[in-house]
Amino acid sequence: MDRNELIDITRRALKISMDKTTDMMPSERIVPAAIYTSQELFEREREYVRRAPQLVGYRSELPEPGSYTTKQVMDVAVLLTRDDDGAVRAFQNVCAHRQAKVAEGCGVAERFTCPYHAWSYNKVGALVSAPGRDGFPTAMKGAGLTELPAAEHAGFLWVGLDPDGGPLDIASHLGDLGPELASWGIGDWNSVGEKVLDAPANWKLALDTFGENYHFASVHQNTFALLARSNCALFDTYGPHHRLIFPLQNITELADKPESEWEPLHNFVVIYAIFPNIVMSVTFINGEIFRVYPGEKAGHSITVHQNATTLDVSDEAGRKGADDIFEYAHSSVRDEDYPLAAKVQANMESGARPNLTFGRNEPGLHHRHACMDEVLGAVAAH
Ligand code: FES
Ligand SMILES: [Fe+2]
Repeated sequence: MDRNELIDITRRALKISMDKTTDMMPSERIVPAAIYTSQELFEREREYVRRAPQLVGYRSELPEPGSYTTKQVMDVAVLLTRDDDGAVRAFQNVCAHRQAKVAEGCGVAERFTCPYHAWSYNKVGALVSAPGRDGFPTAMKGAGLTELPAAEHAGFLWVGLDPDGGPLDIASHLGDLGPELASWGIGDWNSVGEKVLDAPANWKLALDTFGENYHFASVHQNTFALLARSNCALFDTYGPHHRLIFPLQNITELADKPESEWEPLHNFVVIYAIFPNIVMSVTFINGEIFRVYPGEKAGHSITVHQNATTLDVSDEAGRKGADDIFEYAHSSVRDEDYPLAAKVQANMESGARPNLTFGRNEPGLHHRHACMDEVLGAVAAH
């Protein structure tokens, strides 16, 4: 975003902070608890998420030809490589022989040698060597890893989980959000790893915890609420995606400062919800990704949390600083948001109350749930 846009956001964020208010929807929304507990609905949603283009990381995770990284995206093990032409490719991380994973972790490699019987694949997934060829008079001919649609867009790595799904059109998927996401340059920041949360909470309930800051003063009273305001957010939509701006406590100090002296990114956090299942949290130092996946049943989800930093992580102090920030952000979700979500899930599964309410002050929840209803309606109609 250029400075004019940032200043404009800062003006709006300062105003709601001074006025002690937040962007509001016209009315509340009553939501059946069953949208978080119905197994039938869950399975349709999981299928929808499976077919949606999936943001799986930062382009900095594949810095050069020969770089590779591995990802778990729902039940699909994915291997991503950067080929000799610099293009990103994705494959099922499943050996053509007896389906072991051919790669783990990340790094640089010319070949991926399966740990089970040593079938070996190159960067474009072709089988290039294997012991005991006489045992496989037909199976080795033209064998290779199954390629998945892949793209590099707005600084991020994307995959499609359906091998026959055709090329990914991420520009259309993101619409107006694409150029804004790209403008941050987050994809080139230093990736500092992944942490996984296995939660007994529906995937949409997990996402809801990122959809408002009304809960900061209570759930995060000793962590985020010390830095950021509660029940105070700007809300903007980009098709099915949305952006929330969470002003920091110190933003009101800007009221007495000329705009030319403002440093906008020191005064708010930006939260993007990339439909259907990705959340991105951006500050001047941090670009976090939460990849929230439907799990094994309605009341289960997996969240992969990634972080990239503007800090120089090549020296020990920078690395430690980045790790500490990542752990701080991660622990608040792990220890504060998700335990609470698990208890909400249990209450909903008890059937005690049929409905819950999204307040006017929780517009991110309204928007994402309304968009989900819309696409599932569309899916059902086909
Ligand atoms: S399963 Fe990979 S070589 Fe046998
Ligand atoms: Fe939270």
